[in-house]
Amino acid sequence: MVASLVRPGKKLVDIGTDHAYIPAFLVENHIIPSAIASDVRVGPLANARKTIASYGLEDKIEAILSNGLTSIPQDETDFCIAGMGGELIASILEASPWVKVKDNHFVLQPQTHPEDLRAFLFSNGYEIVKEDVVKDKRHLYLAMEVLYTGNIKDFSETDKYVGELKNSKSIYKNDYLKYIVKRLEVQLAATHREDLKVLINAINEYID
Ligand SMILES: C[S@@+](CC[C@H](N)C(=O)[O-])C[C@H]1O[C@@H](n2cnc3c(N)ncnc32)[C@H](O)[C@@H]1O
Repeated sequence: MVASLVRPGKKLVDIGTDHAYIPAFLVENHIIPSAIASDVRVGPLANARKTIASYGLEDKIEAILSNGLTSIPQDETDFCIAGMGGELIASILEASPWVKVKDNHFVLQPQTHPEDLRAFLFSNGYEIVKEDVVKDKRHLYLAMEVLYTGNIKDFSETDKYVGELKNSKSIYKNDYLKYIVKRLEVQLAATHREDLKVLINAINEYID
């Protein structure tokens, strides 16, 4: 799914690459010409180097040890940050404001708290172009295609929880929104907060 949201033909920086499966797949299949595979930890970066070598892609994928975007060359334009919590993805973007260049492109795949990531994106000039959900075994995965536009967006609680899923054609959109509603219902049962009731009703409007 991440692969379907990257810009074909563009060099990609994959942050938190672990085994470098994403850049290796994209380069091996000629979807992108080259990539940087980056991780904050030595172990995952060693895994990445192994994958890169096993495909013979050492001349096309550079492995860089980096905390978020801090050691990435600042002329890069296309980024993937997948498989981390929404808050961590937001904090990685926030720590490197140099990525805020008009039309820079991001594929973000938050494992948890997508609402926090959306709130950060709306408040900081990033526009969510598209969101998709896929299912792998029993897990649902959400991915976002994002552009930096510089436009700050006013947003509601519903926007935070639904985002561009409202326009998604994914067959798993309903399942994903039901899972979000279930999480909120647990909070509602514990707190009886009226605003949560309103939010749950609003999200339910987007479930077909
Ligand atoms: C669950 S793996 C995700 C691997 C791959 N991106 C994927 O989606 O399949 C998360 C990776 O993010 C790395 N990571 C966590 N915090 C990071 C940070 N601040 N900067 C770079 N990498 C980070 C971890 O070391 C780990 O290898």
